[in-house]
Amino acid sequence: MNVAWCVTGAGHLLKESVETFKRLKEQGVRITTFVSRAAEEVLRMYGLFPQLEKISSGGYLEEVFLESEQGASFPKAGRFLLKKYSAVVVSPATANTVAKIASGIADSLVTNAVSLAMKGDIPVFVVPTDFVFDSDDGTGVLRSKMPYTIDREVCRTHECKRCPPAEVCPKNAISGQIDLLRCDGCALCVPACPYGAIRGGESVEIRVRKVDARNVLTLIEMGIHVLREPGDILEALATLRSRR
Ligand SMILES: Cc1cc2nc3c(=O)[nH]c(=O)nc-3n(C[C@H](O)[C@H](O)[C@H](O)COP(=O)(O)O)c2cc1C
Repeated sequence: MNVAWCVTGAGHLLKESVETFKRLKEQGVRITTFVSRAAEEVLRMYGLFPQLEKISSGGYLEEVFLESEQGASFPKAGRFLLKKYSAVVVSPATANTVAKIASGIADSLVTNAVSLAMKGDIPVFVVPTDFVFDSDDGTGVLRSKMPYTIDREVCRTHECKRCPPAEVCPKNAISGQIDLLRCDGCALCVPACPYGAIRGGESVEIRVRKVDARNVLTLIEMGIHVLREPGDILEALATLRSRR
């Protein structure tokens, strides 16, 4: 079975998505990974980018396609019309990508992949970040985890003569604050701070907007399979396989 995995720039459900696709790979599924520009950055911030190689190890139908290297017309998405994949999975799917799909927009690697998959009659599965499944209308509050940040209340930048986290950072990403566009989530800085000012994975509350919840409902109306969490992909694909 060949599956296209589309990753968008969400921290929420990202680690769980990576874990799920590792399991699918272990089950012998061939996975091509399509990475949005934002996902490329966010995967790095959470230290997950190197995991992609374990899931899509190279070779035909097991490539990692980065949106930043794909031009504006995304020719690789033509594979969906050629029926190379049994399914397309977007996990996690940002509110941004869900909104575009719900509006019929296809101007990014992932939205174009979904558009062509639908035109090619390939099943599409989406795991949205901004939807509360146990509420009447999809709105409500979610908990998510932040990437690495410096707690400025705890940091003693002005008193410290040297900043050990800045010294150990292999990406030169720390000077008073963390430049997340340089950070690759290696976490070497965390134990280096004598005051414990660097935190990773801090839990934050996110209120789902009505517009985002409505867009998810639109996906369902469009015939897209909306899943609650990345782990649900395993069962959905197993069902698909048993029907073939
Ligand atoms: C650390 C970090 C985490 C993010 N997490 C989410 C998220 O969980 N859900 C979401 O909708 N957007 C999230 N975003 C914002 C998206 O990356 C942003 O909307 C981007 O334009 C999405 O582009 P894409 O849909 O093409 O991947 C996050 C951004 C950052 C920097």
